[in-house]
Amino acid sequence: MISIRDLHYSYPDGTLALRGVTLDVAAGEFLAVCGPNGSGKTTLIRHMNGLLTPRTGSVVVDGYDTVQAPQEVIRRVGMVFQDADSQILGETVWEDVAFGPRNLRLNRDVLEERVASALKAVNLTDLAQKPCHLLSGGEKRRVAIAGVLAMRSPVIIFDEPFANLDYPGVREVLQHLLRLREQGHTLIVTTHDVEKVVAHVDRLAVLFNGELRAVGHPEEVIPHLRAFEVRPPCFTYFGERMLSWLTD
Ligand SMILES: Nc1ncnc2c1ncn2[C@@H]1O[C@H](COP(=O)(O)OP(=O)(O)O)[C@@H](O)[C@H]1O
Ligand SMILES: [Mg+2]
Repeated sequence: MISIRDLHYSYPDGTLALRGVTLDVAAGEFLAVCGPNGSGKTTLIRHMNGLLTPRTGSVVVDGYDTVQAPQEVIRRVGMVFQDADSQILGETVWEDVAFGPRNLRLNRDVLEERVASALKAVNLTDLAQKPCHLLSGGEKRRVAIAGVLAMRSPVIIFDEPFANLDYPGVREVLQHLLRLREQGHTLIVTTHDVEKVVAHVDRLAVLFNGELRAVGHPEEVIPHLRAFEVRPPCFTYFGERMLSWLTD
């Protein structure tokens, strides 16, 4: 679904943020990209929806190059940003969730149905007419999630979805991720907190200093995490089953 080849990126100030990343993400896969602060996680995922474009190398989504066919890429990849405030575009909760799908030129009934079902999924139906600037941080995060749900993009990327959430908040976001996965979406999550997702992901990718240093099944990658300054997750096994967040 996503094919990244020898991707290099430097910011206008000269910071070399990605140094030759090559990575494939299969359709329906759940991938966690981990790494310490500044390792290039956000820079990498912003290439996956064409928000950033490679200095050298290429990013292809479902056969479409992010430079040559950005509109096709945007239709396929939804992103929930780390900072919910930066993503809010509508006056009210309803307007905000409708913002993305409206650009898909859906007819009115389809649009309303999609917004209503997205709001219901994140339990915000009662706040539909509330102005976004009056929402709490957790509510803003849910509005952002509803926004990508309403787009029905096959690929959904979450940048640090657990940041600043309390215990119920983390569990709730994780439940949304698992539901999306059940529905067949390709899911990519960045985090420096592997523990939250370790029992659920297909693969872990480790970025360090702009390089992809390890990628594979969690059991293969976990022993190497400490070397790349990522805290190894705590978990235990019950038979074959990994006991961790939402599996305990
Ligand atoms: N807008 C920017 N301008 C210049 N440097 C940036 C910018 N955004 C990020 N960087 C730098 O790029 C590197 C990777 O950052 P980032 O992708 O945000 O890492 P992470 O998400 O893993 O914390 C860091 O060295 C960071 O300081
Ligand atoms: Mg980041």
